[in-house]
Amino acid sequence: MHAEFLVLEKSPALHGSSELSGAKNAVLVIMASLILTSGKSTLHNVPFSHDVFQMISLLESLGAQVFIDADTHTLIIDTSNISSCAVNADIMRKMRASILVMGPLLARFGKAAIALPGGCLIGDRPIDMHLNAFARMGAGISLDGSYLYAQATRLNPQRFILSYPSVGATENIMMAATLTEGKTTIVNAALEPEVFDLIAILQKMGAQIEMLPAGVIEIVGVKELKPVTHTIIMDRLEAGTLLLAAAVTGGEINLPRAPGSSLEVFLEKLSEMGHSVDIGIDGIGVHLKATKSPRAVSFKTMPYPGFPTDLQAPMMVAQCLADGTSVITETVFENRMLHVRELQKMGAHIELEGMVAKIKGVDVLYGASLIAPDIRASAALVIAGVAAQGTSTMTGIHHLLRGYQDLCGSLQKLGARITVQSEVS
Ligand code: UD1
Repeated sequence: MHAEFLVLEKSPALHGSSELSGAKNAVLVIMASLILTSGKSTLHNVPFSHDVFQMISLLESLGAQVFIDADTHTLIIDTSNISSCAVNADIMRKMRASILVMGPLLARFGKAAIALPGGCLIGDRPIDMHLNAFARMGAGISLDGSYLYAQATRLNPQRFILSYPSVGATENIMMAATLTEGKTTIVNAALEPEVFDLIAILQKMGAQIEMLPAGVIEIVGVKELKPVTHTIIMDRLEAGTLLLAAAVTGGEINLPRAPGSSLEVFLEKLSEMGHSVDIGIDGIGVHLKATKSPRAVSFKTMPYPGFPTDLQAPMMVAQCLADGTSVITETVFENRMLHVRELQKMGAHIELEGMVAKIKGVDVLYGASLIAPDIRASAALVIAGVAAQGTSTMTGIHHLLRGYQDLCGSLQKLGARITVQSEVS
């Protein structure tokens, strides 16, 4: 068997201009939303990451036909012949975002069955907000072995007051409500740009959705939704990661299509560090010129528009190499500090207490044998590896491939020394 790993070498300051991919967190839910329609839809600017291929397999397993044009980043998805409402255990285990087909399946077919990831308890990877919402709309929810069944002859509109602005729960409720007669309201809804991209495509399909001030979404159900053509928004998280790679190598890069206006809190923190950051006209495009003496900054992850949890790990790399002490508090996920151990192997000074990391900046990180523990941590370790003295290796690259179409390719074009090697075991 061949096991692939990355070799990351100390790289020169990154320089140049880079294109971006479409947003992973938008495309997955948007692909799921097509279940609400019957017919052929076209998606442009699709990032062909492994999670997207998983979602393709999922839709195909339900009976959809999917045509891939990788050269033009286009997917054509024909949902006319969906005949199954059950997501198989293998796909569910590999991709938590599979839960996002539950709302569309319930709304269009009145039933859905999904395998629980690895048969684990719901509390371990909570989807309680999704399930409680469907139950309140009138769906019967039952657990049989490792399969979770939801069934409803009709869904009823509700006023939901979310205790937390969950991205996935907001999306799932919204999709279910588009075909539910009457007015559904979501108070304290998630406001992430990817949620807005979903709203945009649902509106094109004919859904009646209104975003009211203060995070309230109102959906008035319609009888049916029609197939559409849609272009996925750019990946703000990939943009943030590339900017950090330039920052930690002391470089200068330009991302002409980066959605700067949806990264404001993050970009403000980069400016506070001393980096020169310019956002283009109308909030599109970001240019960064790194400072030679970055200052440490503290931050807490928050729901949008706060500091994105998905950029916490890569931003930690920048704090490891900054002058001074920073405190990073992860508030969104309770288990998102797995990169700390890997960065410590590289010589980073980090004290971790629960989800609070206290970091004392060092002059250099050193190459080490790294194991990527999750998608965003894998991106963080890649940029740590190109900033560190010497050579690092990183295993667990399947995490990286799940989340990014070609992050390493983009970094290589900017000057990063990264190669993929395989080991025969
Ligand atoms: C999405 C993104 C992920 C991002 C996250 C927060 C996708 C495919 N993934 O994940 O990259 O980091 O938003 O911006 O879009 N929770 C519950 N019960 C629930 C649902 C969530 O307790 O039913 C908790 C989660 O465990 C977590 C918090 O709420 O602690 C936020 O989760 P949520 O906003 O739902 O994130 P995802 O939609 O899973």
